[in-house]
Amino acid sequence: MLKGKTVVLGVTGSIAAYKTANLASMLVKQHADVTVIMTENATNFINPITFETLTGNKCLVDTFDRSFQYSVEHVALANKADVVMIAPATANVIAKLAHGIADDMLTTTVLACKCKKIVAPAMNTNMLDNPMTQDNIHRLRKYDFEIIEPAKGRLACGDEGAGKLPSEEVLFAHILREILYEKDMAGKKVLITAGPTIESIDPVRYISNHSTGKMGYALARVCAYRGAEVTLVSGRCALAIPEFVKTIEVVSAEDMFEAVEAVYEDMDIVIMAAAVADYTPVNVSDSKIKKKEGDITIPLKRTQDILKYVGEHKKPGQFICGFAMETDDLVANATAKLESKKADMIVANSLREPGAGFATDTNIVTLITKDNTQRLTCLPKDTVASVIVDEILKKLN
Ligand code: CTP
Repeated sequence: MLKGKTVVLGVTGSIAAYKTANLASMLVKQHADVTVIMTENATNFINPITFETLTGNKCLVDTFDRSFQYSVEHVALANKADVVMIAPATANVIAKLAHGIADDMLTTTVLACKCKKIVAPAMNTNMLDNPMTQDNIHRLRKYDFEIIEPAKGRLACGDEGAGKLPSEEVLFAHILREILYEKDMAGKKVLITAGPTIESIDPVRYISNHSTGKMGYALARVCAYRGAEVTLVSGRCALAIPEFVKTIEVVSAEDMFEAVEAVYEDMDIVIMAAAVADYTPVNVSDSKIKKKEGDITIPLKRTQDILKYVGEHKKPGQFICGFAMETDDLVANATAKLESKKADMIVANSLREPGAGFATDTNIVTLITKDNTQRLTCLPKDTVASVIVDEILKKLN
């Protein structure tokens, strides 16, 4: 995913430095070329050998190290970098960067970098709240540094409050957003539904389906990384809420419909990837089910077809994409849904093929539009999401 990309990680003297080891490993697993630069103080918290082992590159600490690879190492690395992330960033290093002070390998390299610089402050709450630190952070923003909001919680010093380094996943997402894709969806508003809906029978039991939300969440992530403003309406999933996405959590088909109806008019692209339960129980009495043995008849009514509603109330210029889960006659049934739901595209996936459907990390889909049917091979869901978006953008432009 990150082949050919150079990431420079700056590590400063904070106990949170251990998280950056995992971040470096996550980047290397995606084939990024990662170089870590540490301040002298950071080496008190984590050993440079940890980073050298994880990245396969020399970990740089001192500007005047004689065993250098490049003639003017900090400039060469600065030119090569696609993104620099300083995580954790102490108040001291933030102050130096904000004032252009370059007195070690890290601050010298950052000053020479033209690429995006992302700073993740980590420190005691009082140090963070200090107007001097706040001014310095403000200055960095002015100079186009991106600042990751520190997380709140119990800090290493025992205090509670803001100042924690966010999780490795959050740091990783910021790097991906910066370097993974062109921002070809900038200015586009996208609405995505994902996950299953849950239809309660009584306070204990429910009707639902096996959807995990993976495909919809992958679409939300890809659209956000490509610069879109994304609203995700999600049924109950075990997945982490994606970064950079406005997420509205819902439970039933009715909740999902209400959430979609409230916002869809404003959207350029609507993608309905949720597995909405087709039926919802009506007037079931708890006691009736408990007392009865053998066959139980549960009265059901159809849920509101959200995709169909949006298709029928489509705004000029909008693009509507639905999904179809089929067990038989994939293309014929999905093509019929394109018509009946007034969608511009149906992404059809067969529940019978290994590597496709619910819960897997891959999918095999066929993209169906009015004038084209295109079957893709088995691909990771993130790649499938990107191809779907490519096709939608082609049709929109
Ligand atoms: N969908 C929806 N609201 C529903 C049912 C489905 O918005 N109440 C959407 C899904 O999100 C998906 C598309 O319609 O984008 C097709 O869903 P699918 O379950 O394959 O089709 P159904 O219309 O439910 O038809 P069937 O289950 O009979 O195949």
